Amino acid sequence: MSYNVAIIGATGNVGRELLEILSEREFPVGEVYAIASRRSLGTEVSFGNKTLKCADLEQFNFSKCDIALMSAGGDISKEWAPKIAAKGCVVIDNSSAWRYDVDVPLVVPEVNAGAVAGYTKKNIIANPNCSTAQLVVALKPLHDAATIKRVVVSTYQSVSGAGKEGMDELWTQTKGIFVTDPPTPEKFTKQIAFNVIPHIDVFMEDGSTKEEWKMVAEIKKILDKKIKLTATCVRVPVFVGHSEAINIEFEKPITADEAREILREAPGCLVIDKPEDGGYVTPVECVGDFATFISRIREDATIENGLNIWVVSDNLRKGAALNTIQIAETLINRGLLKQAA
Ligand SMILES: NC(=O)c1ccc[n+]([C@@H]2O[C@H](COP(=O)([O-])OP(=O)(O)OC[C@H]3O[C@@H](n4cnc5c(N)ncnc54)[C@H](OP(=O)(O)O)[C@@H]3O)[C@@H](O)[C@H]2O)c1
Repeated sequence: MSYNVAIIGATGNVGRELLEILSEREFPVGEVYAIASRRSLGTEVSFGNKTLKCADLEQFNFSKCDIALMSAGGDISKEWAPKIAAKGCVVIDNSSAWRYDVDVPLVVPEVNAGAVAGYTKKNIIANPNCSTAQLVVALKPLHDAATIKRVVVSTYQSVSGAGKEGMDELWTQTKGIFVTDPPTPEKFTKQIAFNVIPHIDVFMEDGSTKEEWKMVAEIKKILDKKIKLTATCVRVPVFVGHSEAINIEFEKPITADEAREILREAPGCLVIDKPEDGGYVTPVECVGDFATFISRIREDATIENGLNIWVVSDNLRKGAALNTIQIAETLINRGLLKQAA
């Protein structure tokens, strides 16, 4: 059995990664359609050893598709996901447009695969924010073992999280600085080359940013509504790969050795943790990988039942495209995805 798949946003960072992962894994694809805006009509994108020409979202007939993997931004998702879903095509959306809708499951398959069954209310499933996906993959096995009460997380998020324009801006500013061209911030609010910016997405009334709020709301929906989380989200001059320094307070005692053993066995996790030079993972090393890497596991003696961990993952993969495809695979493996006529 095979399924016809539409990739919406196929010319973007996440869309290109979706095409690559779809061809890498044994996903039962029939036809694959690359879709972007009218600007990209006819633009060629790679799918394995084939080349696909992009179609225009507004002109495309979705009734021939079984599943649409969508990564074209929140406004496009808000408008188009319900229209596509109404054609009988299941939408798995990467934007934040549907994540907090009670009738839309928000899924990280290693954590709450069973939630996919709820997709039938709107025919839409949401993929979490990139920083949340790697966070919950690392926290779920620890929560099962010792029950998490509170999490304090600081993120170090790469520019690819802001789309292809974010990557271009870091590249242009970095080159410019070497020839003494003054950096001109456009996509980011301040200079990103050789700098860090403690501001991702818009500010909320309480002084936090929307990116920080998303982590709070999403951990509750995916993992456990009782967990308290506070976040500081920071953009750093790294092209791909998000890092997180995470402090966790548990209800029950758990040692660093116990946590290391639990995480070694946990789905999606890869522990690289030696207290020596290079015995940890940095973002450049995780690019193109499927895993959520965990390093620097150690006890926090300043609180009862506390641990610190360092978590790194490819934001375009586990943070977006890989998770989206894992959701689609979950639907298929559970016999929940119907084929178009
Ligand atoms: N990057 C990450 O780490 C990450 C992680 C999780 C979720 N997401 C979410 O995924 C989405 C895409 O992110 P990205 O990083 O791939 O962005 P991107 O590199 O800027 O790509 C945006 C894509 O959307 C398409 N698009 C824009 N306007 C469109 C329109 N009117 N109709 C049809 N297609 C349109 C673009 O097509 P054209 O080339 O034709 O303009 C392009 O293919 C965003 O909602 C983002 O929040 C990203």
